[in-house]
Order: sequence, then C-alpha cells, then structure tokens
Amino acid sequence: MEEVIKIEGGHRLSGTVRISGSKNATVALIPACVLGNKPITMYGIPNISDVESLIVLLKELGVSVENKGDDTLYIDPSNMKNIPMVSAAVQKLRASYYFMGALLGKYGHAEIKMPGGCYLGPRPIDLHLKGFEALGATVNYENGCYVLDAKELRGTNIFLDISSVGATINIMMAAVYAKGRTIIENAAREPEIIDIATLLNKMGAKIRGMGTSTIRIDGVEELGGCFHEIIPDRIEAATYVLMAAAMADDMTIENIIPTHLDAILIKLDQIGINMEVGSDFVRIFKSEGPLKPTEILTKPYPGFATDVQQPFTALLTQCNGVSTVTETIYKERFKHCDELKRMGANIDVHQPSAFIQGKTDLHGAKVTATDLRCGAGLVVAALMAEGVTEIHDIYHIERGYDNLDGKLASLGAKMWREKV
Ligand code: EPU
Repeated sequence: MEEVIKIEGGHRLSGTVRISGSKNATVALIPACVLGNKPITMYGIPNISDVESLIVLLKELGVSVENKGDDTLYIDPSNMKNIPMVSAAVQKLRASYYFMGALLGKYGHAEIKMPGGCYLGPRPIDLHLKGFEALGATVNYENGCYVLDAKELRGTNIFLDISSVGATINIMMAAVYAKGRTIIENAAREPEIIDIATLLNKMGAKIRGMGTSTIRIDGVEELGGCFHEIIPDRIEAATYVLMAAAMADDMTIENIIPTHLDAILIKLDQIGINMEVGSDFVRIFKSEGPLKPTEILTKPYPGFATDVQQPFTALLTQCNGVSTVTETIYKERFKHCDELKRMGANIDVHQPSAFIQGKTDLHGAKVTATDLRCGAGLVVAALMAEGVTEIHDIYHIERGYDNLDGKLASLGAKMWREKV
C-alpha cells in the first residue's frame, strides 16, 4: 500500500499562508551546529522529513537534540563523538554531506557514506572535495565511504569553477578553524549562504563577504553556542506565489523576504499577474485577461532559481503562446514535463530547454513526483486541473514542504491523502 495525495482541481484559493523556515538553509544550519561545543537554539525549523533525517544523524553522533515548541530545536553538541556516518539516514538526503565540512573542520577527520537526495541528473561533489584538499585534507573513497583526514587545516585561496551552493557552504564550515585566512572566490551568493555564515559568526567564527562572490574566513580557536532564527524559505514562498497566480482571487503569502523572489516576481509581472509586494509579503490578485508567454533561464542567485522552474512550468501551460524554460544548472531537470503531459500539457523538451505551448486545459491524472520540485509543479497543476489528480511518491514532497495539507486546506483547496 502506498499513500498518495489526491487533489480535486478547480477550487479558487484565498486567504493568507505563512511561509516556514528555509529547507535549504536548515539542512546546512543543523550540521553547522556541531562545529561548536555549546548548545544552539534554532527557531523556525520546518517540519519536513529532511529535518527528521538530520536529527537521526545528530543523535547517532551523540548530539543531544530537544524539541522546544513547534518550530524550535535545542541542539547540544557538548558530548558528541566523531563516528563514521554510515547509517541509512545519510542516504535519505543530499545535505548529509555538510557533515563532511563540519566534522573535518572540528576533528580533522570525517568518514561518511555517499549522500542521497533528488536525482536531477549528475550531481558531482568534486568542488567540495577539491576545496577540502586545498585546505590540507586528504580525500579517499573506500567501500562506498568518503574518508577525509587532515593533521592541520590551513587557510588558502580557493577558486570555485562553478559557484556551487553546497561547495561554498562545505568549504566555509571546514575553514572556520583553519590556521590563517581562507578566501573563496566565485563563491555562491544564495541567501542561504548568508544565513549559515551568520550562524557561524554568532558562534564566534570570522566570516566576511557572504552574499558576495568573495568570502573571507579567518580561522578561530573556538566556537560556542547562540540563538538563531532561520530565514524564510524562498522556494516554498515561490511555490505558493505560483499556486496563487494559478488559482487565487486574492491571496497573501507572508513571512517572506520579497527581494529573494525578485527574479520570479518579474517573470510573473511579465506574464500578466496582478500583485502587490509589501515589506514581508506578496499579495496576488485574480488576473484579468489572458496570460502572456515568457522565456525563463535558470541561473545562480540572484537569477531565476532552478528550484522554481518546475512549478513555474505548470503555470506556463496557462499562457497563450509558446513559453520556453532553459536549464543552465541541471540540464536534465525536466522529468516533471512528462508528468504534466499526462495532465494535458503540451510540452516539447529538447535539453536544456522545454517549450510549453499554451493555453491548455489540464485534467486530473495519475502522476508521480519524481523529485521534490517536480512534486511542487504537480500540486500547482492539480489545483488548476479539472477532476482529481493522484500524486504518487509523495515522500519527495514531504522532504521539503512543511504542512502542505494544512496550508492548502486553509486556502480553500481540496486535498486529501489515500492509501492505494
Ligand atoms: N556541481 C559540480 N561539482 C560540485 C558541486 C556542484 O559540478 O562539486 C554542479 C552541479 O552539478 C550543478 C551546479 O554545480 O550543476 C550547481 O550545484 P550546487 O552545488 O550549487 O547545488 P547543490 O548545493 O547541490 C543546492 C540546493 C538545490 C538547488 C541548487 C542550485 C540544497 C540542499 N540544495 O544544491 O536545491 O537546486 O543548490 O540552486 O541546498 C531543491 O531544493 O529542490 C534543490 C535541489
């Protein structure tokens, strides 16, 4: 028996939805907590299965973890031990690789199984490993495990060939205790990186330049505890903005940092979506007249986020004319197009682009969430479709969307779960 999500489309949405803490920040913030020796209290933890997997991993390392209310975690690494990370939980998410940087930085040794996560085409971690080596570590791959060792980590200049989010964060974590200064050039500029650096600085690290493409880390001797509030999830926010653009009469998406969504809001404006952008909210109104097609090119931040192109593609099926989506980050990230086609979408994929011919009326169908954001795209499509859509492999969606059922219900959508 498998649990599926069923959505009856065609119900208009209205009201206010509150966005949770950022998944992609949280999955790095939690491993970052083990770098110090004192407790950290973290507010705004999203209730998603990736966090559950990370808590399992923390407990395996002997870190004490307590829930303090709905969205607050108290993480105390003072009695932790550095053991090989080889349990099944490692392979449930990609972000378990942040323990590489954290454990290498703290102990000079890390042993960890190859991490899992969404399949979006090849996702190498060569830049993380080259960064660790540049800091003075040796990297070996033995029996399905990465083994990292360093007698001493030394600050150095590291140029990233690609401005990778994961490599930037992992190197930053490995470098906090390194002797001297580390400079990461062509660093990724995503808001999540600023959040991790902010946490580390509150713990006592000396990181400057986060949010720019040059990050400077001056090694310190000791890190302690702190309180930290996670930034709002810009991808969850964009997903609800897209649901609103598709189906709302008047809907507000609150607890967001609107500038994080600039590239997405500009595209929505171009296709003809009516909106009001406030200091910490976006309000979307029913659009009058047909929507116009557009061209999307995914880029690192502040460009159009690759994680939003899948749900955006669902909306593009409602634009009159041909829209294009070109992937520059993950050239194979188009599995959602096959699923949308089952619902009546007219899409041709010629990697790295998808051509979406609209407007098409969507109808309910049996579809599969092949990865997290594909799942988000299918939810957006299902809300618009005539009849009932049945979404399979919903564990992908549960990895990244906090309380999807409750949030959708409060907005007037008709969604339920069934065992089939
Ligand atoms: N890359 C390499 N070598 C590396 C690292 C990356 O070639 O060592 C390539 C990747 O294959 C990709 C590009 O560089 O083509 C960018 O990858 P990046 O490292 O920036 O991605 P990531 O850190 O693995 C994070 C998010 C992804 C998001 C990307 C891009 C987390 C946990 N994941 O992944 O989020 O798509 O950045 O913004 O932060 C999602 O939330 O659904 C998701 C997949």
